[in-house]
Amino acid sequence: MSTEVNPLHRPDWFNRDLFFTAVMQSISFATPLIEVFTIRAIVDSQSIVPGMPYPEDIRIFIADEASHARAHVALNQELLLKYASPPQGYQGFKKRMQFLNHALSGAQRVRIAADMERWTALWSAWYLSQHDQLSIASISAKKLYAWHAQAEVSHAHVLIALAAQEPLPSAWRHWLFLSAYRLSILMYFSRSVTWFVYYDNQKSILKSARCLLKTAYKVTRSMETYRLLISCLRTSEH
Ligand SMILES: [Fe+2]
Ligand SMILES: [Fe+2]
Repeated sequence: MSTEVNPLHRPDWFNRDLFFTAVMQSISFATPLIEVFTIRAIVDSQSIVPGMPYPEDIRIFIADEASHARAHVALNQELLLKYASPPQGYQGFKKRMQFLNHALSGAQRVRIAADMERWTALWSAWYLSQHDQLSIASISAKKLYAWHAQAEVSHAHVLIALAAQEPLPSAWRHWLFLSAYRLSILMYFSRSVTWFVYYDNQKSILKSARCLLKTAYKVTRSMETYRLLISCLRTSEH
């Protein structure tokens, strides 16, 4: 019987950094929910006539996102062997996504999902620029994140173009929906990352606070943070 520990069960499997391990795990748990939200938005959107075959690039886009969701579900199953339950914030996030699914039209959701897609492509491009220097203990996770990031960079334009065809909701409504979606994601990540950090610090509040403060100090001192912030500001102008 093998006594080898699953590399994903180390608290710092991502770049020997407990905080960024928590971030990557949070991304993995959020991915299936976000991908399904995006796929449903496209399927329900008015620009696609029911029963008609999808244009090839949209068909490929949907297949890509569905395969990302499946791959992250598999990764999450491995993580669940360690954590026993999804992170805090996950269930609330799932409910909010379901609510948006029911409350908004396909066209409204496509425009919101396109915003997310643009941000994901930006972060994925940044991630890929760092990827070779990262030390990732799990080979399968390393491959998965690189594969997903590459797809996000190369296919974002499909959803952005589709959203541009959708009827424009009034500016304030679009702003309201978009803010609700972004806030929901922010709430999830702040709870989930904090929970993973707390869990992996043997549920010690003191150790967790030290870990969070150390990361905040490192991040604010890094020039890379400011470069990223400028790219984010440029992205949000579009
Ligand atoms: Fe994806
Ligand atoms: Fe995507």
